[in-house]
Amino acid sequence: MITVNNLTRIYRVGNVEVRALVDVSLTLEAGDITCVMGKSGSGKSTLLRQLGLIDRPTSGQIVFDGQDVTRLSDGARARMRLTYLGYIFQEFALLGELTAHENVYLPGMMLGGPIRDYRKRAAELLGMVGLGERIHHRPKELSGGEQQRVAIARALINNPKALFADEPCANLDSISAEVVMETLMKLNRDLGITILFVSHDPDDKKYAKRLIFLRDGRQVPEYL
Ligand SMILES: Nc1ncnc2c1ncn2[C@@H]1O[C@H](COP(=O)(O)OP(=O)(O)OP(=O)(O)O)[C@@H](O)[C@H]1O
Ligand SMILES: [Mg+2]
Repeated sequence: MITVNNLTRIYRVGNVEVRALVDVSLTLEAGDITCVMGKSGSGKSTLLRQLGLIDRPTSGQIVFDGQDVTRLSDGARARMRLTYLGYIFQEFALLGELTAHENVYLPGMMLGGPIRDYRKRAAELLGMVGLGERIHHRPKELSGGEQQRVAIARALINNPKALFADEPCANLDSISAEVVMETLMKLNRDLGITILFVSHDPDDKKYAKRLIFLRDGRQVPEYL
């Protein structure tokens, strides 16, 4: 359902060219759970940012259900981002002034429709990630693992088909990390959401059905 063809992203900083991603091709079948691994600077976040429609590739294609999303206008990409995919950042990226509940329903309101429905769904999603008792807490009143689960609930508010997570456990202790990974597994297993996550931890291989290794922006057959 998601195909990446010869994806290349070259950053230019002054006269310096950084080939962050070179000729990467892959397919994510619906319901897949894939882990992207590679050393620091190997291009993992760059790949996720292209897939998450946060950045545009220098060349190559990303196709969601037959549609080339690299060619869409900014407005169409924003809409696609809201309706088709969810994105989870290493550093949670919650709004500190808003409660967990408000953080989760905010991206729903951006699509229009009755706020009441989004509020109800946000409360259900927070229950699903085990935070039913915490919905009125602000981020600073939550643990790191709880904040990341709020971010997962937020990523789900518009029923995405795919979820992209960039080192979702990097800022968490091992127990919170396990809870977050189990939460992602459950979404994949029970709701069939396609998941691509980045990890540094070789232990996380156990969560993935498929592994992708990057080295210097290129796909390599194994972790070298
Ligand atoms: N906005 C940018 N402008 C210029 N160069 C960049 C930019 N973002 C990333 N890079 C460079 O591109 C390369 C890949 O970076 P990327 O962030 O994708 O690596 P990563 O695999 O996610 O690393 P980490 O594990 O440390 O998060 C690095 O050499 C980095 O310095
Ligand atoms: Mg990164």
